[in-house]
Amino acid sequence: MAIPIISAEEAASYINHDDTVGFSGFTPAGSVKAIPVALGERAKAMHAQGKPFKIGMITGASTGDSLDGSLARADAVKFRTPYQSNADMRNLINAGKAEYFDSHLSVVGQQIRYGFLGKINWGIIEACDVTEQGEIVLTTGVGISPTVCKYADRLLIELNAYHPKGLRGMHDLMVVADPPHRREISIYSPSDRGGAEVIKVDPAKIAGIVLTNQADEVSGFSKTDEVTDQIGRNVADFLSNELKNGGIPSSFLPLQSGVGNIANALLAALGEHPGIPDFEMYTEVIQDSVIDLMEKGRVKFASGCSLTVSPEKLAHIYSNLDFFHKRILLRPQEISNSPEVARRLGIISINTAIEVDLFGNVNSTNIMGRKMMNGIGGSGDFTRNAYISVFTCPSVAKGGKISAFVPMVSHTDHSEHSVQVVITEQGVADLRAKSPKAKMKAIIDNCVHPDYKGILREYAGLAGDTHTPCTLSAAFGMHLELEKSGDMRNINWGECFK
Ligand code: COA
Repeated sequence: MAIPIISAEEAASYINHDDTVGFSGFTPAGSVKAIPVALGERAKAMHAQGKPFKIGMITGASTGDSLDGSLARADAVKFRTPYQSNADMRNLINAGKAEYFDSHLSVVGQQIRYGFLGKINWGIIEACDVTEQGEIVLTTGVGISPTVCKYADRLLIELNAYHPKGLRGMHDLMVVADPPHRREISIYSPSDRGGAEVIKVDPAKIAGIVLTNQADEVSGFSKTDEVTDQIGRNVADFLSNELKNGGIPSSFLPLQSGVGNIANALLAALGEHPGIPDFEMYTEVIQDSVIDLMEKGRVKFASGCSLTVSPEKLAHIYSNLDFFHKRILLRPQEISNSPEVARRLGIISINTAIEVDLFGNVNSTNIMGRKMMNGIGGSGDFTRNAYISVFTCPSVAKGGKISAFVPMVSHTDHSEHSVQVVITEQGVADLRAKSPKAKMKAIIDNCVHPDYKGILREYAGLAGDTHTPCTLSAAFGMHLELEKSGDMRNINWGECFK
C-alpha cells in the first residue's frame, strides 16, 4: 500500500486539541517546517471559533521558527519540553501561558519510553527519504526521532527535497534497551558506530507524507569580537598547558563544545592554537567552525546530534558529501549526550554560563532566578561526566551593568561539585582541588572584570570566615542593586551587611 501524499493543511487537520506531539530535529536542523505552520493556522482558526486548541510539544531541543514560533504565536502550546530558544516561545513561557519543563537532553528519549511524558499521539518527522517498506532516512538532526517513531500512535512525514538522499549512512541510530535489560553502549571512540542507518516503522503507521523543499532555519553566526576571541585564546592556552603538564593524555581527548557564538569562536581559536593537536569531537551540535576545521585536518572526526550549520555551509557539505560522510556521525541525543559514553571517552566539556558564583556554582538558564532563557540543554549531561568541565562567559553583560560573577547564583544548574574550570576574557580560574575560600580567590583574581574585583573582594571580606563565606542578607545584594538602580556597580555593601 502506497503511503498517501497529503497537504500540510490536511496533515494539521489530523491533530486535535490536547494531543501530545513528538517532533523531529535538534536545533533548527531537521526540524519540521510546513506542518507546524499549518498547525498554527489551525489553532488560530479554532480560537476564532471560540474553541480550545493547544498541544503538548516534545522536541529534541530548540527548533526553527516555523515550529516553535508558529505555535507560540498561535498560543497553541499546552506544555513544552525540553530546550527552546525562540523569542516568541520564551515570551509565552515567561508569561505563564505554556507549561514548560526543562530537562537534561540525554533523558528525553527514555522518559518517553518509561511513560513519564504520557502518551504520544503523533510524531511529525522530517526525512530526506521514505520507502514503501517504512524506512525513514533522517536529515540534519536526529534528536528523539527514533523513540518518537516507535512510541507515537501515528506518524506524519515531511519529505524535504532540500536534503539529498545521499545523507543515508551519516546517521547512527542506536536505541538502548530499558532497565533491567540495558547493556553498555558500545562506543569506545567517537567514530565507533553500532546502530542503524534508518528508522524502520510499519508503513501503515504513517498517515501521510507532506512534500517540502525548505532549508533549515539556522541563522548564521555573528562575527567574533575581542571578548569572544580572548575567551577562545584563554581556553586554548589552558588546554595546551594541561597537555604539556600531563593533565591531559598526550593523544588529547574528545571535545564537547556548547551552542552559540562563543562556542563557535572558541573552536576556531582551538583550531589555530599550535599547542593543540588535531582532535576529535564527541559533542551535541556540530557548528560551522567544526566544518572549517575538518577541512583543514584539525578536526579528525565529529560525532553529534545535529549538523547545525549556516545554509552556505550546508550547501558546501552537500557538494562534498563523500568527504564529510567519512568524518561525521549523527546520533540520537540519548547517545550523543550519553553520560556513560562521555565519562568513558573522557571528554573535555566546554559550555557557557549566564552567571557564576564565587564558589563555581553555575546558572545557565534563569535570568535573575526567574525568567527562563533557553534551558539546560546538554550542558548538564556533559559537565557532570567530563574528564575536565569548563564554563566560559564574558565577565560582564549589558555594557558592564551586570557582572557575570555574583556572591550567590540566582538559580543553579551546575553545582560547584561538577564545575572544574571557569574561563572569561580576563583569565582562567582552575577550581580543581580547591576549598570554597580558595575557589573564591581564584575566581576574583582571574575571571572577574576589573570594575567588580574591588566590589567582590569587599563582599568576601565581610561575608565571614566560615567554610563557605556567605552572608544570606547580602548574597543577592548585587541582583537587588540591579533591580533598584539598573547597575550592579552601584552596590553599597554597608546597606546589605547592616
Ligand atoms: N543577567 C542578565 N542577562 C544576561 C546575563 C546576566 N547575568 N548574562 C548574559 N545575559 C544576556 C546577554 O546580555 C545576552 O542578551 P541579549 O540577547 O539581549 O544580547 C543574552 O543573555 C545571551 O548572552 P550571550 O553572552 O550572548 O551568550 P550566548 O548566546 O552564548 O548564550 C546561554 C548563553 C547560557 C544562554 C546559552 O549558552 C545556553 O542556552 N546555554 C544552556 C544550554 C547549553 O549549554 N547547551 C550546550 C550544551 S551542548
